[in-house]
Amino acid sequence: MQFRKKISLLAMACALAAVVPVAISAESPKVKASGNTAVTDVKPWMDKALNADQRTDLVLKEMTLDEKLTLVYGYFGTDAPQLNSKRPKESINLSAGYVYGIPRLGIPAQFQTDAGLGVACQAGEGAVRERTGLASGLSTTSSWDLEVAFNGGAMIGSEAHSSGFNVMLAGGVNLMREPRNGRNFEYGGEDPLLAGHIVGQQIKGIQSNHVISTLKHFALNDQDQGRTLANSLIEDSAARMSDLLALQIANEVGKPGSVMCSYNLVNGFYGCENQYLLNEVLKGDWGFKGYVMSDWGAVHSTIPAANNGLDQQSAYSFDKSPYFGAALKEAVEQNWVPQARLDNMARRILWAMFDKGLFDHPAKEGGTIDFAAHARVTQTGSEQGMVLLKNSNSILPLTKSLKKIAVIGSHSDVGVLSGGGSSKVYPIGGIAVKGLMPDLWPGPVIYFPSSPLKAIKARVPEAQVSYSEGTDVKAAAKLAAESELVVLFVNQWLGEDFDAQTLSLPDNQDALVAAIAKANPKTVVVLQNGGPVLMPWLDSVSGVLEAWYPGTSGGEAIARVLFGEVNPSGHLPATFPASEKQLPRPVLDGNPNDKVTKFNVNYFEGAAVGYKWYELKGLKPLFPFGYGLSYTQFSYSNLAAEVKEGVLTVNFKMTNTGKVKGKDVAQVYVAPVKGGWEAPKRLGGWSKVELNPGESKNVSVTVEPRVLSMYQSAAKTWSILEGDYKVILAQDSADANATSVIVHLNASTLNSLGKRVN
Ligand code: BGC
Repeated sequence: MQFRKKISLLAMACALAAVVPVAISAESPKVKASGNTAVTDVKPWMDKALNADQRTDLVLKEMTLDEKLTLVYGYFGTDAPQLNSKRPKESINLSAGYVYGIPRLGIPAQFQTDAGLGVACQAGEGAVRERTGLASGLSTTSSWDLEVAFNGGAMIGSEAHSSGFNVMLAGGVNLMREPRNGRNFEYGGEDPLLAGHIVGQQIKGIQSNHVISTLKHFALNDQDQGRTLANSLIEDSAARMSDLLALQIANEVGKPGSVMCSYNLVNGFYGCENQYLLNEVLKGDWGFKGYVMSDWGAVHSTIPAANNGLDQQSAYSFDKSPYFGAALKEAVEQNWVPQARLDNMARRILWAMFDKGLFDHPAKEGGTIDFAAHARVTQTGSEQGMVLLKNSNSILPLTKSLKKIAVIGSHSDVGVLSGGGSSKVYPIGGIAVKGLMPDLWPGPVIYFPSSPLKAIKARVPEAQVSYSEGTDVKAAAKLAAESELVVLFVNQWLGEDFDAQTLSLPDNQDALVAAIAKANPKTVVVLQNGGPVLMPWLDSVSGVLEAWYPGTSGGEAIARVLFGEVNPSGHLPATFPASEKQLPRPVLDGNPNDKVTKFNVNYFEGAAVGYKWYELKGLKPLFPFGYGLSYTQFSYSNLAAEVKEGVLTVNFKMTNTGKVKGKDVAQVYVAPVKGGWEAPKRLGGWSKVELNPGESKNVSVTVEPRVLSMYQSAAKTWSILEGDYKVILAQDSADANATSVIVHLNASTLNSLGKRVN
């Protein structure tokens, strides 16, 4: 696999820009001054009793043309010599971005940091910011737990604020259409309802710290291979019921101050100058009041971008030209971009800054961070997100009476893996494994220094616990044969700017698992991976625990689940295919070695994403969406469904029929009896409940009305068609023991926001 430094891509972009005559200078009409300088006299818009709209009106009236332009133009917060770009001295070093404030008016600067898994740090010279890393987005989504998502967001948002950042480039919710997408680990899986709610809660948590969160990448940026060249083709109603629905729900739940438009094209137009996506869907149909910022290097024009809905050019040096600098000023003066449009751009940015508390609660660098408390937050999240995929003969939980354990693979003696790219969080205590490749973008490969081996040893102090890295397969198999039980760690490193070329584990790890399992069938495999992987060895091992990228406290979290201190309760947020042949696109579109030719990615499957596709096509995956085992068992009874004033509510009883306390995720699917949807059924809601052995609880799940509807593009409405619907209560999307009842729904219409209009 070929990796390239982000910077060198930029250098290329710049070289190109150099041969194209650019009539404007790189200098923006910024107001030279630093960020959070206090104003001496009290301005009327600083009155906290006024709402964000009123405060925005008041300050906007006072602003000059240059001041408005200052707000829409962003700088990279890291020196990039290859680009001839130096960070503004007022920015925070090695940060993603900076936008000048306007001290005259008390408007704070915008200090931007990545990303959704913690406060990240750009690669470069100088001190590295070491912060707390959450488990991956797929892990958080596997928890199906809104509180876990909120708490994780609140924790990383507080670290951002204490580090001087007031904008966090989080809220990634690109739907998993492509299990090989290198960035799936940052996102929320394949179902729009689940992903939208989880990511929405995370955004809400971040913003509870007076930090603006983004929602990204808008939209249909579902593969990273060729992400700046890919043209996603999809029909409007299919998009609204899939990718856009995930974004819409996350927007409603999280109310992000900003939305980041994406690199790719959608139906022929770049994401950051896409009239349909930005003006029609986001700002029109959804009534989004915040601002659209570009992804880094995703702007391609001044006039189309501004007029079609982009409000802020991020880190201009990533683009071929400083489009929203002097060029935008000229465009406004010439009325190619109306003055009212520039006012609207500034209004949106200011509104978000007032609404999310950036004026009233300034972020300052050097704040105190309670790393120990934050380590517990990420640990809880990781524990709740682990998915037990196989547990033959109850090999797990491990007992304390074990005398001889082999721990093999994946540097599990020193740490746990995380994903690559801009979301990388540098671990407190330094990177546990040095010198891994790629060491440059989207690397370095980061292992958090949380050793599963140590955490295992601590639980069985009397036992002999031996470690092998697994590079010498023969020696590792010998160790396995001589041990009572093996815990075998395997991994898949994924990251930004590339996709996995296959779903197989890299570096011959399948052969390692096969050899170890042959030597000792009492083998438990622990996976640390960016997305679904194939498991040709599944039948030969006794246990499989999906740990994802488990974050700062991952080693401890894994050991706690292995030893039953935590009963696993995660459920897959995405289907694990049995082979690439089952995918809508068995071969990935684009060519990793071609960085110039545009290509189409035809989303012909429409809204039939993930489990919907498998059911539609009658395919049996390796593991279905929603799947996850526990150390106890649950049963459901008394299923009943009722419709009151058009709202479908599902009631049932959940019982823990096993011997230990545990949490279950009861899943409600809905299916029109006569068909007519993109696929037989959709997830309608769920409930995660903790139960003691023998305990029962009555549970009620309200079904999101949009999930019962078909989107009507011409009318811009959602319509529920009259008829009988099957309400299915299941433990996963392919549960053979699922129970169901039929309800009758009358025809009804919802507006574009999903609110009932008749
Ligand atoms: C990524 C964004 C990120 C930005 C800033 C881009 O490469 O796609 O998700 O926020 O860089 O680092």
